[in-house]
Amino acid sequence: MKYWNVLLHGGDYNPGQWLDHPEILKEDIRLMKLAGCNAMSVGIFDWERLEPEEGKYDFDWLAQIIENLYENGIYTVLATPSGARPAWMAEKYPEVLRVNPDGRRILFAERHNHCWTSPVYREKVRQMNSALAQRFGKHPAVVLWHLSNEYGGECHCELCQAAFREWLKKKYGTLENLNHTYWSSFWSHSYSSWDQITSSIEGIGETAHHNLILDWKRFTTDQAVDFMQAEKDALRTFSPDVPVTTNMMGFYDGLNYGKFREVCDVISWDNYPNWHNGQESLPAYIAMAHDWMRALKPGEPFLMMESSPSATNWQPVARLRRPGMHELSSLQAVAHGSDSVQYFQWRKGRGGAEKFHGAVVDHDGSADHRVFRDVARVGERLHALTDTVRTVFPARVAVIHDVENRWALGEMKGLHNTQYQKGFMEDLLAMYRPFFDQGVNVDVVDEEADFTPYKLVVAPMLYLLRAGIAEKLSRFVENGGVLVGTYWTGVVDENDLCFLGGTPGQGLDAVFGLEQTEIDALYPHDKNSLRLLPDSGLHGLAREYQTGDLCQLVRVTTARTLAEYGAEFYAGTPALTVNSFGNGRAYYIACRTGQDFLNDFLGVLIRDLGLRNLDTELPAGVTVSLRCDASTGREFFFVQNFSDSAVEIALPGSFTNVETGKACGETLSLPAYGVAVLNPVK
Ligand code: GLA
Ligand code: ZN
Repeated sequence: MKYWNVLLHGGDYNPGQWLDHPEILKEDIRLMKLAGCNAMSVGIFDWERLEPEEGKYDFDWLAQIIENLYENGIYTVLATPSGARPAWMAEKYPEVLRVNPDGRRILFAERHNHCWTSPVYREKVRQMNSALAQRFGKHPAVVLWHLSNEYGGECHCELCQAAFREWLKKKYGTLENLNHTYWSSFWSHSYSSWDQITSSIEGIGETAHHNLILDWKRFTTDQAVDFMQAEKDALRTFSPDVPVTTNMMGFYDGLNYGKFREVCDVISWDNYPNWHNGQESLPAYIAMAHDWMRALKPGEPFLMMESSPSATNWQPVARLRRPGMHELSSLQAVAHGSDSVQYFQWRKGRGGAEKFHGAVVDHDGSADHRVFRDVARVGERLHALTDTVRTVFPARVAVIHDVENRWALGEMKGLHNTQYQKGFMEDLLAMYRPFFDQGVNVDVVDEEADFTPYKLVVAPMLYLLRAGIAEKLSRFVENGGVLVGTYWTGVVDENDLCFLGGTPGQGLDAVFGLEQTEIDALYPHDKNSLRLLPDSGLHGLAREYQTGDLCQLVRVTTARTLAEYGAEFYAGTPALTVNSFGNGRAYYIACRTGQDFLNDFLGVLIRDLGLRNLDTELPAGVTVSLRCDASTGREFFFVQNFSDSAVEIALPGSFTNVETGKACGETLSLPAYGVAVLNPVK
């Protein structure tokens, strides 16, 4: 498969807006070179120009654009246009238009809203993709296929409903099996014919079978993957060597991205941090999103396919980036394994939905613009960091984020019904945070992961156990790994059926050495505490931490209690335990704590397991990520300062600054929002 030997820099280029302005197209090339750009994504929403009338393709204008870019040293990331279709198609074939969750078919409008199943749409896409591949698939300029744009959403049309029923038949074989799994005789909800089954149309459809809703989400994911696979197949005859990607959306959970790892040759995603929104944990959240996207394909780099070079028009408040923030935000992606910094979009349009979205070139068309200068500076820095291309991101810690588990937590009734996903994403971030603060590489993985490369696995609220996960975690601990689990673990199986005879299910009770009995959901004004026992052995922790929200009651079997509840009728019962299991150990945090406890507790594990990338104390807001050349072992430490003041970091050893080639000395000084990349001197 083709790859490239530079860090890609560029973005969505939509020259279709300017075909009647040749002077602008010419100026674009001059400015791209000035900004150090070497890759443009072209053709993303161009179907109406590529096929103005049914069956009449016009690719000449696109060929001209690709040639011009290539002659000037700029690669093309070539998109397929299925993210939006022309009016003639919607008018002639209404089935290509999606039926929304409210059961109504959309009009010709907006984008990202085609039916996943429609044979007509699939055929139109097949013809288009294969024609594009025939014309451009072997062109040396084309380094990557960008399939569609931000696949997402669901279609509830009759075609999709019929496909869903087929999918269910394949999965369950008989209605009896399906009814059993849905526990459908409760409320007299059993199906006596497959045709009675529908998706959950808002307001009128079934919401009581949680596993039906999960199945619908699983089906929608499978249809989307199948749609992407069909797009890819249509390219392959004429373009066998060019890798394909699709731009994902981080923690978007409308689709289970874990299922896309095979169909994507390269993972890419669109990153729109709301910088300067006052949320102190935002840098960690973005780092975590990079770690989730990258880890979809273990051991490989990914691409940041879109980001705003300035403000983002769809966010609640379109704040400008403070000086330095654009470089830091861009290099944060590279620090986490991205082989690109790409923007949306190259030049602001005059009209339309995104005329005020940040772009490299503003309406003034000038290079003498703060945003343009920032972008050009990123171009220079990426060039100086060329040696990082294709290096890996070695992680010894995994944090589990599983989309099916998130769906199941979102659907279940109980605990805190008013809280989004019952707080799972907040827990995930809170548990990721200490690793970010101390500069530890982390993979954010789902339940399909192979845990053997890790020393530590952290699994917040592992409520739904997909097939094989419990066994993998047991083996991981048995073989010497350290596992951290929490309240509300191992409650339901992969079909959302509760385990009988005690939880955590599937043998995780033995791994943790305890049984969960009840769980108390607290009001915001209710508080409890977690009190460390004198012999906990957890050095450096406070005696007591505040807890609340969720308090699991447990009965220990083989586990040792490290901390107890301080209040309520369950005062004095275990709030934190550890269990030796095989050669490893499993900690169990029974209640939702504040960040303070997680920082201190996970800090002990970070220290004891020697997990920090750089063995030094980091000032607040500073983190370190590590990329490594798998063949030479050369290491790249990305030291990133997300605070708004200058910092000094004591360096443990001798380092060279990769970009300047100069020796670093004992202390590294970084300005506010500064970032430096260091090689150790061996
Ligand atoms: C998404 C889309 C782009 C553009 C940007 C704006 O990521 O893929 O086409 O709309 O948002 O932020
Ligand atoms: Zn449909």
